Amino acid sequence: MKKYNVTIIGGGSGYTPGVVNSLLEKRESLPINKITLMDNDEKRLHIIGDFMDILIKERAPEVQLVLTTDRKEAFEGMDFLLAQIRSGGLKMRSLDEKIPMKHGVVGQETCGPGGFAFAMREIPEMVSIAKDVLKYAPEAWILNYSNPTAIIAEAIKREVPEVKNICICDVPPWQQRDMAFMLGGEPKDFEYRYFGLNHLGWFTHMYDKEGKNRLPELINMIKETGLQSKTYTDPYWEKTAKRLRQFVGHFEDSLPTNYLQYYYYPDEMFNEEDPNYTRADYCIDHREKETFDLCIEGVKKGTAKGNDLTDTIHGDFIVDIASAIANNTNEKFILNVPNNGVIENFSKDSIVESMAIVNATGYEPISVGEIPIFQKGLMEVVNAYEKLTVEAALEGSYEKALKALTLNPIVPSTHVAKKILDDYIKVNEGYFPKLS
Ligand code: G6P
Ligand code: MN
Repeated sequence: MKKYNVTIIGGGSGYTPGVVNSLLEKRESLPINKITLMDNDEKRLHIIGDFMDILIKERAPEVQLVLTTDRKEAFEGMDFLLAQIRSGGLKMRSLDEKIPMKHGVVGQETCGPGGFAFAMREIPEMVSIAKDVLKYAPEAWILNYSNPTAIIAEAIKREVPEVKNICICDVPPWQQRDMAFMLGGEPKDFEYRYFGLNHLGWFTHMYDKEGKNRLPELINMIKETGLQSKTYTDPYWEKTAKRLRQFVGHFEDSLPTNYLQYYYYPDEMFNEEDPNYTRADYCIDHREKETFDLCIEGVKKGTAKGNDLTDTIHGDFIVDIASAIANNTNEKFILNVPNNGVIENFSKDSIVESMAIVNATGYEPISVGEIPIFQKGLMEVVNAYEKLTVEAALEGSYEKALKALTLNPIVPSTHVAKKILDDYIKVNEGYFPKLS
C-alpha cells in the first residue's frame, strides 16, 4: 500500500498538533511515510515541531518528521499540502479587528473589513505557494484552511488554475456534528443539503437513514435551546452556538451556519466586542499560549504522554478529505468550489460552499437547483465584495479595494470604508500589495 508524504505549511501554528494527531490516528486509511512541517518562523516551528518529534517517536516511530523553513525541501515529493498560514500572525489579526471598531464597525477576522485586511495579506502569499506547488510537486493536492478560504480559492483559481486545490472550512463539519448530536446520532447517520459562501451558508435538509427530513424538528429544538454542542469549550463559540436560537427564531426556513451572526446582527456583534481587547487578543492569551506552553513543557519532560493536544473536527476533516482522494472513496464533504451551475441562479464563475463528492479525480459538487432570494441577495453582495478584494490585491488597485469595502454589508458607507482602508494601509506596510 502506498505511503504518503504530507506537508503542513504554517507548521508552527497552534493547530498543527491537532492535524498531526489526526494524521497519526488515521494511518490505517492514509498510511504516512513522512510529515514535513514548514514555517517561515523558525522559533514557532521548533516549539511545535520539537514536541511533534516526541509525539511521533512515541506513537508512530516509522513516520519520518522533517522541520524546514525552505519551500523546495518542504514541497518536493509531497502528495498533499495542508495549508494553514496566517500572514502577519495573530498580532496583525488583532489590528484587523480593532481598526474597524474605531470607526463603529465590528471587527472580525474573516467577515467584514477584518477579513478584507487578512485577505490582502494572504492572497499574495497563497498565490506564491500555489505556484511553488506547481513547480516542485505538480501532482500534489493543496487542501487549504488558510483564510479567508473562499477568497483564497478565487485568487488561486485566477492565478494558478492548473494547481489541484481544495479550499475548506471546519465550520460546516462542526455544525454537522452538533446537529447530529442533538438528534441523537453521528454526522454520518444523516444526508445533508447545504449551500452558501464560506462563513455564510445554510443547511436546507438533513435526511435520516429512512429518508425523513429531520431539519424542521431540529430547528424547533434549536428555537428552544440554541445549537447544543458537545464540542465547544470556548466561551465565544459557546455563545455563538446559543445564538442560533435567535437566527431560527427570525427565519425558520433553513439552518444558517454560525458566522452569519456578523451579517444578521452586526450591531449586536459590535456591542459585544471590546474595542481594546478583541477575539484575537483572547486567542493569543488563551488558546495559543496554552498550546505553546504544553509543547514547551512536553519537550522539557521528554514525553508527549499526558499532554492532551488532540483536536477532533479540525484535524479529522482535512485528513479525511486527503484520505477520500487517496482511496477514491466518493465520500461527501462541504467544500469551497467554483459554482459551475451547482446553484442554478448564481454566477458560474463564483466560488460557493457546497456539498461535494470527493474521490481520486478531486471533487464533484452536488447541485442544489435554484436558491431563494433572501439568501441569494446576501450571497451576491458578499461574492462581489470577495471578487473585488481579489482584484484589488492582484492588480494593486486602491479603487477596487475601496469598492470592495464599500460593498461589504457590514460597512455602512464609503466614508467609513475609506477611513478603515486608509488605516489598514498604514499598519500593513510590507504585507499589503502596493495599492495605487
Ligand atoms: C473556525 C473557522 C475558521 C476560523 C476559526 C478560528 O474554525 O472555520 O475559519 O479561523 O474558527 O476562530 P477563533 O476566533 O476561535 O480563532
Ligand atoms: Mn472557516
